[in-house]
Amino acid sequence: MVFLCPNIRAYNFVFLLQINKTLQMHFISQELEDYIEQHSENEPALLAKLNKETYQKILLPRMLSGHFQGRVLSMLSKLIRPVNILEIGTYTGYAALCLCEGMQETGQLHTIDIKEELVDFQRKYFDASPWGNQIFQHLGEAIDIIPTLDIKFDLVFIDADKENYLNYWEMIVPKMNKGGIILSDNVLWSGKILEPVHPNDVSTKVLLEYNQLLKDDPRVETVLLPIRDGLTVSRVL
Ligand SMILES: C[S@@+](CC[C@H](N)C(=O)[O-])C[C@H]1O[C@@H](n2cnc3c(N)ncnc32)[C@H](O)[C@@H]1O
Repeated sequence: MVFLCPNIRAYNFVFLLQINKTLQMHFISQELEDYIEQHSENEPALLAKLNKETYQKILLPRMLSGHFQGRVLSMLSKLIRPVNILEIGTYTGYAALCLCEGMQETGQLHTIDIKEELVDFQRKYFDASPWGNQIFQHLGEAIDIIPTLDIKFDLVFIDADKENYLNYWEMIVPKMNKGGIILSDNVLWSGKILEPVHPNDVSTKVLLEYNQLLKDDPRVETVLLPIRDGLTVSRVL
């Protein structure tokens, strides 16, 4: 059995905090972010609880969409009124629940994640929501699961590994209903899309290609919104 000495534990903790910090995206000041949140819809109580428990128990909690982006996702879903929704990258289920807020009564949300250890956490919150029976969790590589879903989608949220964004795009567009919306998260990648790209930085390279592809793809019309870490909205023609 291996026991970590307190110093090593402290070192690991600081290291994790540093990773977490590099994931923090601040395109606007904290003061403005607070003002924006305060003048947008309140975070629903269940989501506030999920948010808190994610920060208490789960690694890299900044991956969760959070209050403001969550309200944006909820608003978009309410405007779209989708029947079938797909999310690629569930994490703790925050965005899935936001997207369900606009789903039609007969609708289904399918959500994919590769991390088995998150499944029970997600299910606890899905079952505490009004949409427990309408949410379907898929465990595994998104690239293997997407082709098995014989469904036409009205709303898709792409929010998993950036390396596969181009693959996800090509798999998803043919599965969309006309007028459907594809949302792509983290497309500004903390501003790295403007910086010189390190030769080993595959994610940034892919995102640069991805953003250009979405702009040029004649099958969609696209607008890149500077929300949080960048959220692209693409409408299928
Ligand atoms: C940014 S988080 C998703 C956050 C969530 N959409 C939200 O806003 O609350 C990304 C998730 O994608 C998952 N993921 C990463 N690579 C994946 C892959 N190849 N297939 C499926 N899921 C993957 C990770 O396990 C992680 O939970």
